[in-house]
Amino acid sequence: MPSKQSLLSLSLLFFLHPTTGTPSDLRYVNPLIGSTAGGNVFAGASLPYGLAKPVADVDGQNTGGFSTDGSNVTGFSSLHDSGTGGNPSMGNFPLFPQHCPSDEINGCRFGKDARKKHYKPESVVAEPGYFGIELVDGIRAEMTASRRTAIYRFTFPPHEEKGEDPVISIDLTDLWESRQNASIEIDAEKGRVKGNGTFLPSFGAGSYQTYFCADFSGAGVKDGGIWVNDRAGSEPKELFVTRGFNNFYIQAGGWMSFLRPDDGTITARVGVSFISTEQACSNAESEVSDPISGFEKSQEQAKQAWSQKLSPIKITPGGVSDDMLGAFWSGVYRTMLSPQDMTGENPLWESDEPYFDSFYCLWDAFRAQHPFLTIIDPHQQSRMVRSLLDTYRHEGWLPDCRMSLCKGWTQGGSNADVVIADAYVKNLTGINWELAYKAMVNDAENEPLEWSYEGRGGLQSWKKLNYIPYLDFDWMGFGTNSRSISRTVEYAYNDYCLGVVGEGIGEDGYTTYLSRSGNWRNLFREDQPSFLENGTNTGFTGFFQPRYLNGTWGFQDPIACSALASWCSLTSNPSETFESSVWEYLFYVPHDLSSLIDLVGGTDSFVNRLDYFHTSGLADIGNEPVFLTVYEYHYAGRPALSTKRAHSYIPRTFNATTNGLPGNDDSGAMGSFLAWSMMGLFPNPGQSVYLISPPFFEAVEVTHPETGKTATIRNVNFDPDYKRVYVQSAKLNGMPYKRNWVGHEFFTQGWTLELTLGEVEGEWGTKRGICHLV
Ligand SMILES: *[C@@H]1O[C@H](CO)[C@@H](O)[C@H](O)[C@H]1NC(C)=O
Ligand SMILES: *[C@@H]1O[C@H](CO)[C@@H](O)[C@H](O)[C@H]1NC(C)=O
Ligand SMILES: *[C@@H]1O[C@H](CO)[C@@H](O)[C@H](O)[C@H]1NC(C)=O
Ligand SMILES: *[C@@H]1O[C@H](CO)[C@@H](O)[C@H](O)[C@H]1NC(C)=O
Ligand SMILES: *[C@@H]1O[C@H](CO)[C@@H](O)[C@H](O)[C@H]1NC(C)=O
Ligand SMILES: *[C@@H]1O[C@H](CO)[C@@H](O)[C@H](O)[C@H]1NC(C)=O
Ligand SMILES: *[C@@H]1O[C@H](CO)[C@@H](O)[C@H](O)[C@H]1NC(C)=O
Repeated sequence: MPSKQSLLSLSLLFFLHPTTGTPSDLRYVNPLIGSTAGGNVFAGASLPYGLAKPVADVDGQNTGGFSTDGSNVTGFSSLHDSGTGGNPSMGNFPLFPQHCPSDEINGCRFGKDARKKHYKPESVVAEPGYFGIELVDGIRAEMTASRRTAIYRFTFPPHEEKGEDPVISIDLTDLWESRQNASIEIDAEKGRVKGNGTFLPSFGAGSYQTYFCADFSGAGVKDGGIWVNDRAGSEPKELFVTRGFNNFYIQAGGWMSFLRPDDGTITARVGVSFISTEQACSNAESEVSDPISGFEKSQEQAKQAWSQKLSPIKITPGGVSDDMLGAFWSGVYRTMLSPQDMTGENPLWESDEPYFDSFYCLWDAFRAQHPFLTIIDPHQQSRMVRSLLDTYRHEGWLPDCRMSLCKGWTQGGSNADVVIADAYVKNLTGINWELAYKAMVNDAENEPLEWSYEGRGGLQSWKKLNYIPYLDFDWMGFGTNSRSISRTVEYAYNDYCLGVVGEGIGEDGYTTYLSRSGNWRNLFREDQPSFLENGTNTGFTGFFQPRYLNGTWGFQDPIACSALASWCSLTSNPSETFESSVWEYLFYVPHDLSSLIDLVGGTDSFVNRLDYFHTSGLADIGNEPVFLTVYEYHYAGRPALSTKRAHSYIPRTFNATTNGLPGNDDSGAMGSFLAWSMMGLFPNPGQSVYLISPPFFEAVEVTHPETGKTATIRNVNFDPDYKRVYVQSAKLNGMPYKRNWVGHEFFTQGWTLELTLGEVEGEWGTKRGICHLV
């Protein structure tokens, strides 16, 4: 939670610990930021990239399990994703503690709706590695996590008068009741409950099996059994449930009752696995050998692990508020909740390579999150890339979205290509680049039969016509035949990424891809105007438009699918642009912005468009395609306007409140946008380029975890009220520096950038021409 400590002692803390990560950074992390109003963050306990993610689940906004929306707690479960949209992910096998009237097992409430209870809002405590909450009936639940084990501590208030003993139930369900078959087995003597079930992924195809092993300690077990539809018994001790022929869903699970211990506290250690119940038990036993003392130990280890992960970054606040620090550090924290390291928990294939899951989705994460991990945790980023390649090796395709061992829906291009190219230009080690290139070429050349969850569609047209046609004639594969504009611009960028890697490793074919990377031009309709809904002409001409197979233009209103019009996704109002407008996708040429600027009439015209876009309500700051547009002024030689734009969104739309995210965090994508912005650099993935804009703090240092060199960005004339935010002049390693960007060497070599600030736009960085790459 953000601390109330004075700024004076704050800077003292930083002064006292200038080089090592200290818990002083951790205390700014508030996992509840984005826990309501659609942020959908996971607010519970987790290790960095941890698989076990215990939290309270609610019946309100429960996509990440818990929400500070004041709804009811339905249980406490151990698997979650963070920040995703759509169906809530996982939340399997929730525990629920209660007292049952008259101490009669059939007086308990078992079903989700029957048992749920409001929580006391002021009781919620969330910090890295810990989540605590009290229900209105006075039962307190605390939880922490090791990698594949959740530990819960339930404290039952004294209840002697009524003589009611504590009962904890386990429900064979998940957050969206997707369970198919499931089994449970109760061993009351050992105080152990084991089970498994088959569930559906929240944004993908197929199903997955998951397993748990729960051990209860701290109290004598009185009895145990199973329940079905709110009726319970001590016999039998095993249960199998399935979906009937009409897909009927039955509520069922197990329960255990206890003799209330003097301190009222019962500990549940829940091992999870995707391999077997035996492995769930052995995971728990090896990670947390003694459940009772294990709680504090695991909590401490989680804190240490987070502290270590945050340690590459040092902030000199320079007088900015604790809220700004809280927003920043929490954003950094959320970039490492997902993807989840499931190495050793992959039942799909045998391999010595790492396995990560919850790339949910790369469409969101390639833009800022993976580049962020590349600077603060390059070792893990490299393991993630290896996992993508291993998935290609065993499933035949790179993932685009992946959750709970299943293929997730592809939103546009084959964006693993971008993650790989970014790793390549930033020299990540340990990656087989020949294999990587092969996997990328597969995306670009071979159309899968089912391209809604892998590869690309419309490849015949892509190769022949050099754009994805509106109403394509595509008999080679199946997918949602929409998004012809957004797929065209994404495929072009993806092909650029192939070109980069191909050229780098000396593959002849790379020129084909660099040339295809210019395909976005083919959908630019020079004479296309744009009107607002009330008929006002925006005054801008020249937009992407859909184009039929025969080359004739189709039409999509440039403002359609923007925040001013209606939402367009795969299923809701599918259009030629995905989740955003023609207006926004116009700026989506990350690899060729120089050409785009020329195409729309030069820098002034480009800057006017960006301004109009950001100030008219057309820009959707709550969704990832907008990210780079905030900084594209740099390419027109107007870095001051990028700075101005960033300050117009932060903290107004990204801040330290529970509703402080403008959209789904998407596994940390929003967190990484915020973190980069506040650090004063912004990446353009697939290129060794970081756009410079002054940090929101006096200084930021980033120590490269592998080279040990420290990169520094320091503001001279820093002003915590952000009146002086414009760079007047810059020095790199003490020498005058005119470019408005730096390369990745800045981080690996530990360079120092000094930015002298003033109140008005200066001359610095106004020379156009970052990289004309194609
Ligand atoms: C909490 O549960 C109660 C009882 O079922 C219900 O009336 C109420 O709407 C729920 N509250 C929220 C915010 O979901
Ligand atoms: C569920 O169990 C039934 C009956 O044992 C079996 O036929 C079916 O294949 C199982 N389905 C899944 C998804 O495991
Ligand atoms: C699930 O558990 C039941 C009962 O313990 C067991 O019979 C079954 O084989 C398990 N299923 C899987 C897929 O492991
Ligand atoms: C149309 O809408 C825009 C944006 O809301 C507004 O500025 C403009 O005045 C409106 N024009 C008319 C004719 O209503
Ligand atoms: C091209 O195809 C579209 C859609 O079928 C059709 O409306 C249009 O008339 C065709 N244009 C020409 C020049 O044939
Ligand atoms: C914080 O951000 C949210 C989401 O963008 C916004 O609705 C809210 O007004 C902001 N709060 C403050 C105090 O700026
Ligand atoms: C990557 O390695 C090459 C060869 O060692 C070197 O020339 C280049 O500067 C490095 N790039 C970065 C971004 O560190």
